[in-house]
Amino acid sequence: MQATAKAHPNIALIKYWGKRNAELNLPATGSISMTLDALWTETTARFDKTFDQDILILDGTQATQNATSRVSQFLDIFRSLSGTDQFARVESVNNFPTAAGLASSASGFAALALAASTSLGLDLAPTKLSELARRGSGSAARSIYGGFVEMSPGEKSDGADAFATQLYAESFWDVRLLVLIMSDASKQVSSTDGMNRTMATSPYYSAWKSTIPTDLDEMRVALKRKDIHRVGELAEHSCLKMHASSMASRPGIIYWNKGTVEAMNKVRELRNDGIPAYFTIDAGPQVKVLCLPEDEEKLTTHFQQLPGVEKVITASPGPGVSIVGESP
Ligand code: DP6
Repeated sequence: MQATAKAHPNIALIKYWGKRNAELNLPATGSISMTLDALWTETTARFDKTFDQDILILDGTQATQNATSRVSQFLDIFRSLSGTDQFARVESVNNFPTAAGLASSASGFAALALAASTSLGLDLAPTKLSELARRGSGSAARSIYGGFVEMSPGEKSDGADAFATQLYAESFWDVRLLVLIMSDASKQVSSTDGMNRTMATSPYYSAWKSTIPTDLDEMRVALKRKDIHRVGELAEHSCLKMHASSMASRPGIIYWNKGTVEAMNKVRELRNDGIPAYFTIDAGPQVKVLCLPEDEEKLTTHFQQLPGVEKVITASPGPGVSIVGESP
């Protein structure tokens, strides 16, 4: 059977940065995110006994050996669960540039987890799907769900309790996340490499880790109250703290470019003028701005004029992963 699944990337409001077990991809801390409606990945998986290797097609082009072997290792988990040794053909399409640092691994592995399990006839509960998606990429565990999502780091050594759960569905709170695509997207240190280096060499990593439980508690309360100022302030703090600990690695990791810094300053300037707008940044130069729907247009106009910003994509809270096609 062949199955196609659609998943949306998510942006962490409280960041995940560091692993307690690299092999099982177990996060060192919890995290909280928002799933984005405007961006998506659609992935089709087909297992067949006539295939003699796994094949990965990304946006119409055969993927590199590295990307294919990461997917093959991920598919091994599903092969072993269903007791098959068949290879698969995986075709994945993003509606946003893969290289733009927009968490394509989150939507990619969430969609692949559902497409692969469905095509093998496995009917997995969302928490199990989330646990398995995590093995592909930590942030993918959160893209199983829509709206506002919390990832638990778990305590078990086999990772059976390290999965995400939904805090609030996408209809809970109508907010916007403006994604500023920077024109100068130079090659970055991957999230995996960046967090591993930070853990191994940054003197600030342990401080980072020790503050996360409080950040998570405060973010849960702020979300419940739909308090844009508090949610935004906590998200900005979590982002800057993550970047500060990465910058203090050896060699230091700097994900920002000129445009990133200009955009951060602009957000704060607009905030001083009374518009509730808050930034967050992942392992790349793109700045994402959290704001209210009524300020979306005004803010977009401001950011479109900013040097270094190529494009502004507007996202609202989006849905979790789903099957969009099945055929024998
Ligand atoms: C900065 O999920 O990409 O976006 O588990 O190694 O694949 P791996 O890392 P990944 O890291 C995401 C890091 C982040 C923060 C976040 O999304 O929580």
